Amino acid sequence: MKILVLQASPNLNGSTALLADEFARGAREKGHEVTRVDVDRLDIAPCTGCVACGYEGPCVQHDDMDGLREQILAADMLVLATPLYYYGMAAQLKCVIDRFCSVNASITRKRMKSALLTVAWNADSWTFEALEAHYNTLVRYLCWQDCGRVLGYGCGTTGMTKRSSHLQEAYQLGRSL
Ligand SMILES: Cc1cc2nc3c(=O)[nH]c(=O)nc-3n(C[C@H](O)[C@H](O)[C@H](O)COP(=O)(O)O)c2cc1C
Repeated sequence: MKILVLQASPNLNGSTALLADEFARGAREKGHEVTRVDVDRLDIAPCTGCVACGYEGPCVQHDDMDGLREQILAADMLVLATPLYYYGMAAQLKCVIDRFCSVNASITRKRMKSALLTVAWNADSWTFEALEAHYNTLVRYLCWQDCGRVLGYGCGTTGMTKRSSHLQEAYQLGRSL
């Protein structure tokens, strides 16, 4: 299947990217086509809330979402890969998700598969509670089929991440598809 990884960290060689690439390695070994998009490097403005699209239709804004929309609609699976920022996803990714507005019905109809890859400095048990709640709600609302998640507790630096078990978890998640 076609897998699109929406990688949100501005650190293109950071911990989120490490997880994304290990996931991709595993998925490619199983024959899947994986594309990683570093959304921080795209020019995607926040949704203005005008709802000229009527939640399905052309967006009045023309930026890199024009191309990303086509990639999303061509994909079978979306992987949300984000560092934890103030206990939620990075704004770069939230911006993209808010712009789903103009393809809301198309995304829902596709019954896409999904996964979550994330890293944080903290290792407290509650570190990812808010992010998981948000992701679970997106899965439910957008009729996604959740294929799994890697919660990178204690991945505050690439060194910490490389010493953790989470890279292996990401690889195994890719291999499990
Ligand atoms: C703006 C900002 C907010 C952050 N918020 C949190 C947080 O709420 N909890 C946490 O454990 N770590 C937090 N961190 C740490 C990052 O999640 C962590 O360093 C992560 O490894 C960064 O991933 P990257 O290398 O892919 O950029 C924050 C970092 C930044 C820059």
